[in-house]
Order: sequence, then C-alpha cells, then structure tokens
Amino acid sequence: MTKSDEGKTVSYWEASEDLLEKNALGESIETDVCIIGGGISGLTTAYLLTKAGKRVIVVDDGAIGGGETARTTAHLSDAIDDRIYRIEDWHGADKAKLAVESHARAIDEIERIAKEETIDCDFLRVDGFLIEAEDGGEDDLGKELETAHRLGFTQIEKSERAPIADFDTGNCLRFPRQGQFHVLKYLSGLAKAVEQNGGRLFSNTKALEWTGEDAPEVRIESGQTIRAKSIVLATNYPLMSKMFAKLPAYRTYVIGARIPKNSVEKCLIWDNADPYIYVRTQPENDYDVLIVGGEDHRTGQAEDFDARFGRLVQWTQKRFPAAEEILYKWSGQYLETHDGLAFIGRYSSSEPNVYLITGDSGMGMTHGTIGGMLVSDLILGKENSLAEVYDPSRLATQSIVDAVPEIISSTVPYVDWITGGDVSSADEIKKGTGAIISHGTTKIAAYRDEDGKLFKRSAVCTHLGCIVRFNSLEKTWDCPCHGSRFGTDGHVINSPAIATLAELKEE
Ligand SMILES: Cc1cc2nc3c(=O)[nH]c(=O)nc-3n(C[C@H](O)[C@H](O)[C@H](O)COP(=O)(O)OP(=O)(O)OC[C@H]3O[C@@H](n4cnc5c(N)ncnc54)[C@H](O)[C@@H]3O)c2cc1C
Ligand code: FES
Repeated sequence: MTKSDEGKTVSYWEASEDLLEKNALGESIETDVCIIGGGISGLTTAYLLTKAGKRVIVVDDGAIGGGETARTTAHLSDAIDDRIYRIEDWHGADKAKLAVESHARAIDEIERIAKEETIDCDFLRVDGFLIEAEDGGEDDLGKELETAHRLGFTQIEKSERAPIADFDTGNCLRFPRQGQFHVLKYLSGLAKAVEQNGGRLFSNTKALEWTGEDAPEVRIESGQTIRAKSIVLATNYPLMSKMFAKLPAYRTYVIGARIPKNSVEKCLIWDNADPYIYVRTQPENDYDVLIVGGEDHRTGQAEDFDARFGRLVQWTQKRFPAAEEILYKWSGQYLETHDGLAFIGRYSSSEPNVYLITGDSGMGMTHGTIGGMLVSDLILGKENSLAEVYDPSRLATQSIVDAVPEIISSTVPYVDWITGGDVSSADEIKKGTGAIISHGTTKIAAYRDEDGKLFKRSAVCTHLGCIVRFNSLEKTWDCPCHGSRFGTDGHVINSPAIATLAELKEE
C-alpha cells in the first residue's frame, strides 16, 4: 500500500486537483541541494534556489504535495495563532515584530510568485477577523490589539462585527491584507517552475537517513544515495531529529459545505476558543465551498471522530444558514512548538550543511514560505534578519515551560503497555476496523480490510516504544506519545518514527 491507503479521508484540494506523481529516483546522483519533502516548505525552497541557479533535487516518499499541505485549509495570515502578545512575552518586542512582519512578507511572496510564474491558484487578498467565541473563549482581544498597536501594527483595528450577513460575530479584530488560495494549484505551479529552472522532482522516494558534516549525503530506502553540498529537511517533522519533545503533534478536523455562489463574504475568520474554529470560503464554478475547521486534539488521544465532525456541522449550520450539503470531511496533522514560532535554519552547529523547516504551529502556509525564503538565503550565504528569530537551537525559557505544560506531558500514554488489548482475539475485529490484541507480553496492531483480510503488525511504535492506537477515521495507527502515524501495513505516514511497524515473529 502507498500513502493513498484505502479509507483515508479526502480533502477539498485532493478532490479538485491531482497530486503530482513523478518518477521515483532510479540511480545515485550528486547535486548542490537535496531537499527531502515536497510540500509547501520544500517546494518554496526549491523554487527560490533554482531561481538563484542552484542544482536542486527534491525527493518525497509519496506524491509531491501529498503531505499535510494537501490537508490544509490554506488561510494566509499574519494574525499569529498564539497571539502577538504571547510571542512578545516569550521572545521580546523586537522578535515579535519581526515574526509578524515575516508572515506578512510570506503572503506577499506567495502573491509575487503566483504572479511572476502566472500560477492560476485563486489567490485573493481578504480581511481576517479574530472573533470572540460564544463560550470558552479567552478574553484577550483587547490585549492583542494593544500589543499590536504598540509594536506598530496600527492597521489592525477593532470592529463591531465581521461582515457576514447572517452571522453576528460581535466585537472582533480586523486584520487587513490577509490571503487565501488553492494550495495544490499553487504547488503544481511551483513544481513546474522548479523543473523549468532545472530542478528535479522525485516522488515515491523515501529518504531513510542523512549525514551532514564534510560530505553530506542522503540514503534512499531503495538503495540509492544523493550526495549534496546542502540538505534541507522539509519533511514536516524533521527526519532523524530528536526534537519531538519540542514539537507536540495535533489532529485537526475540517468540513466543506456547499453554499450558493457569493452568499458568504470572502474573508478569514478565527474564534478565540481553544481549540479554535477557522473559517473561509473557496470558489467553485457555480457555487462556493464554506470550509470550517477545528476540534483539535493531541494525536492518538481521541477517537470520537463522528462527534467532532458533528460539532463542526452544528456550529456551521447555526451561524451560516446558507450551508447546504456537506461535501467534504477530512483531518490532518500539525505540529506546535514550545514557543509559538517555527524552527527554521541550521540543524545544528556540527551539521552546518543541513537545514530544517518545521513546527508550523498551525500557520504552515506562511511558516513554510518563510522557511523557503530563510533557508534559501542561508544556503546562498545572504544575511537574513529572521535567522535568530526562527533559530532551531533556541531553548525554552522557564516562562515558556510554565505557560505550555504539554511540552512535558507526552509520556503519559505509556500506560497502554500495562492495560489489556481492545479485543481478546482477531475474530472480534469487524471488516474495515482495527484493534489492539494483547498476546502474552506482545501487543498486536490488527486490521481487517473490507475484503476480510487480516493485517497484523507489532503495536509498538518504532520511535520510542509507546503502543499505537487505531484511528478509525483515517484507518491508521496513531501514536499517542509524539504523534507518529502508520498505515495499516505498518508504513510510516507521519514521523518522528522512521521505521515501519515491525512484522510479528512466527508464533
Ligand atoms: C487541517 C489543517 C488545516 C490547516 N490550516 C492551515 C491554514 O489555514 N493556514 C496555514 O498557514 N497552515 C495551515 N495548516 C498547516 C499547514 O497546512 C502545514 O503546516 C503545511 O502544509 C506543512 O507543509 P510542509 O511542506 O512543511 O509539510 P508537508 O506538506 O507535510 O510536506 C512534507 C513532505 O515530506 C514528505 N516526507 C516525509 N518524510 C519523508 C521521507 N522520509 N522521505 C521523503 N519524503 C518524506 C511527505 O510525504 C510530505 O509530502 C493546516 C494544517 C492542517 C492539517
Ligand atoms: S511517536 Fe514517540 S513513541 Fe511513538
């Protein structure tokens, strides 16, 4: 099985645009820059480097653009998810200012590239509105506005309501010059431009490991090697890194409802609940799609998927009476960081030729684009004022550890080792479902496909040994500790794990 496992949900973008299948790498090669990962981070880096004349190779273990970039909702925003005032508390005023500006510059860059490369990707400038949740929201809009103005972002203003006819949002903050686009059309255009500039893209090519230092090299699962002067880890979670404690993984859920054309004002909306709801529209030929997301939880730590979609549908129907049929339901994964900013830059001082882009913090369209801009500058030897802001080696200060307790809560699910399985025998597993079976000291991840065929693998996560749990929505095995995910045949979908779930020894 490949990444398009049977049973996984299909996002709006995947349904409306083909993912880019390229040839797999067939021979060992040498290049200037090897980029692992063909999402928005990897392709933006590839685009900027090929434009600057570098020889670039991008490898992806699935289709190009088939990772979390295909699962996004593609709000382009400089309204920081964690709030500007928290970024100021954690990083100081200067870095907070640079961070906000960097997201605005990323939106400008996407607009510029789309124009220069004539990528028809529905790019649109829209306003964004941070609204108060009806219940459970943080009372922090005033504080956010005060901080924004003090740092010079006076374009952000208080508004009595967002401009949605049927939904009286009440007081909110308006963020002008945000953006939205069709992410896979954009990625397709980027890929085409990279190839026109001499870059080479390979899909179904899994990188197993890399070495940096004097002779950087990437080893591919099927045996080839790529020798490069620089390596960029754009794999969402950086391949082979030990940053999992700083990168808690979350699942988030999205619905897409059909609405009459232009019945809802084009804008971005986020409420201030935790987890928060995020809303936008996307144009189709003779109707629009209202895209509503939320209901986030730590990966592997919830299984009430229907209830989560149900709450999103209810929320939508109550506020958007124009919503008709629900056309799409999907979920995806994102990575928070311990301090609200992505990690972008040199992997470590001992591996100066290896770079990473990770920790999207729910803003991976812009963080991924910032990543491409910053890493390409570093590789090209150009100064970039953001290098320190996004430096991956920065440490959590005590104030951050106090404010974000979940950094240290990731080992709780080890308790699954001492509990029984979900079922006592494989006979109890119905078609299309999976369950953990306890057999002596062995934990088995067993899945029965729609034809009745049983797939069994070890249930021990190959990262650090937690027991995986079945995700009945995506038909995957999800690790509740640090967010690794595996297909029903055991292959890795999301890292930090690199190795497939182990085969079972003959009984
Ligand atoms: C539901 C949802 C909604 C979101 N909404 C927004 C939003 O509105 N705005 C926003 O800014 N962000 C949003 N995000 C976040 C954003 O979509 C992601 O952060 C961003 O797409 C990540 O891009 P990436 O290129 O870093 O990673 P990916 O797109 O995941 O690309 C990484 C690639 O690396 C490949 N790969 C991994 N391991 C290997 C390996 N060993 N060898 C070879 N290839 C490998 C994968 O196959 C994948 O294609 C959302 C995320 C989700 C899930
Ligand atoms: S992801 Fe770390 S133990 Fe599974």
